Amino acid sequence: METNATPQPHDHPLKGLNLVSFSTSIKLLFSGYLTTVGVGYLIALTQILFTHGMADGKFGLSFDDIVYSYYGDRTSSSLEGKLNGSMRDKAPDEDRFRIIQWVRDGADEKEYTIYIKPIIDDHCVMCHNANAGSLPDFSNYANLAKYASTNTGATFEALVRVSHIHIFGISFIFMFVGLIFSFSTGVPKQYKYAAISMPYVFLLVDIASWWLTKLSPHFAIFIVLAGTGMAMSFAYMWCVSMYQMWIVGPVLHQEDTRNALLREED
Ligand code: HEC
Repeated sequence: METNATPQPHDHPLKGLNLVSFSTSIKLLFSGYLTTVGVGYLIALTQILFTHGMADGKFGLSFDDIVYSYYGDRTSSSLEGKLNGSMRDKAPDEDRFRIIQWVRDGADEKEYTIYIKPIIDDHCVMCHNANAGSLPDFSNYANLAKYASTNTGATFEALVRVSHIHIFGISFIFMFVGLIFSFSTGVPKQYKYAAISMPYVFLLVDIASWWLTKLSPHFAIFIVLAGTGMAMSFAYMWCVSMYQMWIVGPVLHQEDTRNALLREED
């Protein structure tokens, strides 16, 4: 009788439990998910380019963008920035300096009424009025004062909101991308462990760096490093998983009887 024979590795009921040998329906399920989150990742990168990328006024993501987005541009208010920038030709220098001095002195309301309002009414309100649509209305003190305060970057409320959405959302994405990738075979163990665990480390470093960059611009480098690391882990797991599912088995006709769920042999 054969019943007492030692089971051979390939007799194991879960033999071939790996990306190469999965049934087509599982491969389709995994690939559908990977494709969708891949598109989502690209859209997220595009959004970063258009929001943070424009923070320094120039297209393209730069180091300054990150500092401006989180820390702000503390040297200046947007009113002063504009008066030295695209609104420079809207008022004579003397009046521009008057407004800038007022901004730097703290944008006091009494002073506004006496000195600043007449200048704004003469030179700005023809464009910046209540009917101007997308342009801010500068016909009253409150609106103008908003543009006179220092630009301190992301607000506390915005950081809390974006932090928790990112932590829950992104850890969920990497749960499934990592789970799919963990069925891969033949990947050197140290790469596999790193690719699966690094996204979580990068995610926490990324979020922590947003908060730290709000305090000091020096931390912006960690936002760049963590974001790059996360994207690299994602791309690596995505490509290896897709390659094993659709190229190694079907195209290269390779068999794989390993069980990716059991502990790897050394
Ligand atoms: C001829 C119309 C016109 C006049 C006059 C004008 N502006 Fe503007 N202003 C614009 C337009 C258009 C924009 C948006 C484009 C830009 O930011 O350069 C703008 C943008 C601004 C912004 C940035 C608004 C934002 O949403 O960030 C500030 C601040 C500003 N103007 C201040 C002034 C001040 C102060 C004066 C008067 C000295 C003035 N402007 C006069 C047309 C005008």
